[in-house]
Amino acid sequence: MTERTRVITLLDELQAAERAGATALGEWAAGCRDPALRGGLQVLRARDAAHAALAEARLRALGGQPSAQAGRNLQSLCSVLGTPDVSDRSKLTLLLSRFPDRVHDPFVQFASQLTDEETRALLETIGDDERASLRWLREDAGGAAPAPPEDGRRGAGVAFMDALAAAETSGAQVFEAWIAVCAIPGLRGGLRTAAARERTHATLLLDRLRALGVAPTASVPEPVRRAALARFGARDVSDEDKLGAIIARYPHGHDPGAPIAAAGDELAPDLETRNVLHLVAAAETATIGWLRAYHAALTGGMRAG
Ligand SMILES: [Fe+2]
Ligand SMILES: [Fe+2]
Repeated sequence: MTERTRVITLLDELQAAERAGATALGEWAAGCRDPALRGGLQVLRARDAAHAALAEARLRALGGQPSAQAGRNLQSLCSVLGTPDVSDRSKLTLLLSRFPDRVHDPFVQFASQLTDEETRALLETIGDDERASLRWLREDAGGAAPAPPEDGRRGAGVAFMDALAAAETSGAQVFEAWIAVCAIPGLRGGLRTAAARERTHATLLLDRLRALGVAPTASVPEPVRRAALARFGARDVSDEDKLGAIIARYPHGHDPGAPIAAAGDELAPDLETRNVLHLVAAAETATIGWLRAYHAALTGGMRAG
């Protein structure tokens, strides 16, 4: 079997599994009475739906058609997760028992050996999301409630979410403009995951604002958005310069997720929103970490060459 055939088979299985997972997580979230857990489940559901779309888009780009069904084990797991009469605790235990501490290594190993660099980077960054999801389920999903915040902090937290939703929407557009002209397949693969994260975050934040009865009003100033689109969508600006420009905004030791997690803590009596923000924060950190590592490899490689 050629690599392309194996990649198409794997992407087809992946889109089916992610779609089944997203559906089951959505059903679980809808019936979940624990707000803290529900917040996290909503992020995990949105993430898996984005993974399904990414896998399907890559599958189609390689000339394949989605036709796989989720495997029988996964289907039975999903049907339990979607059942209202099984406790959250039991569902968590069942889900975690399916994934050993080291997340499906065969998948990671397969991805790391691909010569198709775009698919490889896509699978690796999707794998980063899966590890983050499992880590949250394992370590935080059943965690104790944090202390309530000082009075009067909710307004600031909500305004932050509104501004962040606007920034994520424009961030997704900027990454998409970059993907359209990006000359490096491996970078393109990672950017696709990054763009999907930004879109997913925007949708999650807007959903949370609406659930809190807040109408979103923030927007990124048009000249700023336009300038970013022009710069990152430009063919005559190198990928290295674009990477450098993003990384320059986050000097070493500055965690891009920290302010987002802090805003979540300001909203902490509302554990559902808090946990959405905490998971969004972790994904932002992952995106910048990946871009930073890619930039280092690229510039190191160029120096070596
Ligand atoms: Fe996923
Ligand atoms: Fe972002």
